[in-house]
Amino acid sequence: MNDRPLGVFDSGLGGLSVVRALWHHLPSESIVYFGDTGRFPYGTRSPEVIRRFSRQNAAFLLERRCKAVVVACNTASAHALEDLAGHLAVPVLGVVEPGVEAALAAHHGGRLGLLATSGTVGSGAYAKALRRRRPDLDLVSIAAPLFVALVEEGWTNTPATELIVREYTKGFAPGPFDAVILGCTHFPLLRPVLSKVLGPAVALVDAAEATAAATATLLRARGLERTGAAPRHEFFVSDAPEKFETLGPLFLGTHVRLPSVVHIENY
Ligand code: DGL
Repeated sequence: MNDRPLGVFDSGLGGLSVVRALWHHLPSESIVYFGDTGRFPYGTRSPEVIRRFSRQNAAFLLERRCKAVVVACNTASAHALEDLAGHLAVPVLGVVEPGVEAALAAHHGGRLGLLATSGTVGSGAYAKALRRRRPDLDLVSIAAPLFVALVEEGWTNTPATELIVREYTKGFAPGPFDAVILGCTHFPLLRPVLSKVLGPAVALVDAAEATAAATATLLRARGLERTGAAPRHEFFVSDAPEKFETLGPLFLGTHVRLPSVVHIENY
């Protein structure tokens, strides 16, 4: 069991930032990544559709004999995590709970914010997760769907990007804010502009690191950790594998060979 890979899925390629963090926290683990690029984005879809897609993605990963599933997508974590946990025979982790934990670690009495897709904000998943831990704290949530398109376009640091970031983040007044959760896998790539607009005092919380640390804790606790050398990583998408060439390294920090295409509708 321990030698089996860890399964990771996302609506597209943004979840590769979680793979990068997993490489750092769990360097011996083999990883199977599935990016649902053919049905991207999830953020504007209904909860039922996101749950159906997530079940199919998980079924593919389990067919590859994954020992645990990391839902490296905020929208899918917000809408489908409970459903997956209820019917999969392996442990399932999402990015929401670790993201909230990381935001609380940066909390010093100021306010907490969230930037995410419409789907994630609409689900209230982050607000609920925060309320469970700190019912006294409010989360100021802003849906910023255009951020996803900006990153996909490679416009991570243009004047137009800054204007759009300023417009969306107007909702964070009045402050002061201690932390803003980047509740979408694409948003960490806008970090330079966000930090310019929000100021250096606001911690920008990326759930990828926190999720990787939580995955390491879970594998250790369940005795599922792989200790051998030479892990094997496999990458799959549901369409347009060539996009991996340009976007892959942005999230992953390195080049890997082009992914194979999966007919995910068959799962
Ligand atoms: N992975 C998605 C998320 O974190 C990216 C955006 C989308 O699919 O709409 O929400």
